[in-house]
Amino acid sequence: MARARVPPLALYIHWPFCESKCPYCDFNSHPGRPEDEPRWRAALLAALESFGGATKARELSSIFFGGGTPSLMDPETVAALIGRARELWPPEKQLEITLEANPSTVEAGRFRDFHAAGVNRLSIGAQSFDDDALKFLGRGHSAADAIAAIGTAREIFDRVSFDLIYALPGQTEISFAAELDRALEFGCGHLSLYQLTIEPGTQFGRDGVSAADEDTAVRFFEATQDKTTKAGLPAYEISNHARPGDECRHNLHVWQGFDYIGVGPGAHGRVTQGADSFATQAAADPGRWLGHAETMGAETMGAATWKQLTAHERLEEITLIGLRLAGGLSAETFCALTGKKVDAAFGAEKLERLIEGGFLELDTRGLRTTASGRLRLNAVIAELLDA
Ligand SMILES: C[S@@+](CC[C@H](N)C(=O)[O-])C[C@H]1O[C@@H](n2cnc3c(N)ncnc32)[C@H](O)[C@@H]1O
Ligand code: SF4
Repeated sequence: MARARVPPLALYIHWPFCESKCPYCDFNSHPGRPEDEPRWRAALLAALESFGGATKARELSSIFFGGGTPSLMDPETVAALIGRARELWPPEKQLEITLEANPSTVEAGRFRDFHAAGVNRLSIGAQSFDDDALKFLGRGHSAADAIAAIGTAREIFDRVSFDLIYALPGQTEISFAAELDRALEFGCGHLSLYQLTIEPGTQFGRDGVSAADEDTAVRFFEATQDKTTKAGLPAYEISNHARPGDECRHNLHVWQGFDYIGVGPGAHGRVTQGADSFATQAAADPGRWLGHAETMGAETMGAATWKQLTAHERLEEITLIGLRLAGGLSAETFCALTGKKVDAAFGAEKLERLIEGGFLELDTRGLRTTASGRLRLNAVIAELLDA
């Protein structure tokens, strides 16, 4: 009997440094640059290497350099990590390699070097094409810088995406609609459109800045869905839009619940060994992480702690992230990853209630939210997972 193919792995590498800390940002990012980048390169390589043993012979489908601001990395560091990853895991033919870039850190020369290092997809933190909004967001670049960065990236990379943040205090739907029109004019195959959220540990949180109220947020969201769908870039996840076929394969892989390795400060991962699933989590503080990576032994593989997940924890996380996808939970993948059929996992009665309420759809392909369910996603998921 033919053995089922073991699904490939994705690799996430976290670079925790930025030129400055943006007032809205709750990511594990710290202003400044490491004093000794070769030391960081060696530590990241060591962490990568030590994951190799547990996941040997699995194919590699994507690498994602996230941050922080990985475009501040020395292209030599990026090249070394890509080179070693390709040796540790046989790469798929279409290995996707994404790097996040901040428009302030762009010179065409650096972009070319990242491309030469093997990066084949760039994701740019444009945030806005309005100078006042960029100032409010504490960004160190202008709208013209963001536009120039996208233009330069498009000359070098076949696949370019950029991020915008919307529903800012005082922003009108009309002004964001104009910004979105400008964004769509670039003709990129992928866009990430995030509503501003206010996180407690951020400067905006401390300053008491408010996020849009629920009605405003829904109006912005619906207008965004409408415009992007008409332009041929429908949402494939709540905040991510792509021309069909141009979705970020790395994120889709992670969101569908497949295994990924996380390397660097604060990075987390999911690794299946036999029937067991493990959540890996690295120390968030850059100095602590560096110490772990330089002294790790067999029990701290990848400079991370390993926690075995229960079958219920695994089912919960697959549902939580998977239902954010427009395609929802694939019946086949869900069954392969949890050992359960979708209807059996949640209970027929509860499913029926949510389907009849117009929030969910279930067919042979799987379970997904309707447009109305997407607007109440947290409530729908909470009801579904309520034991
Ligand atoms: C790691 S950053 C991208 C790369 C780079 N650090 C930059 O900012 O240009 C990830 C993205 O998350 C989004 N983001 C971060 N905090 C957010 C918040 N509080 N609300 C909405 N979007 C946010 C921003 O669009 C940002 O570009
Ligand atoms: S939004 Fe990007 S540049 Fe700003 S602090 Fe966060 S990770 Fe750094």
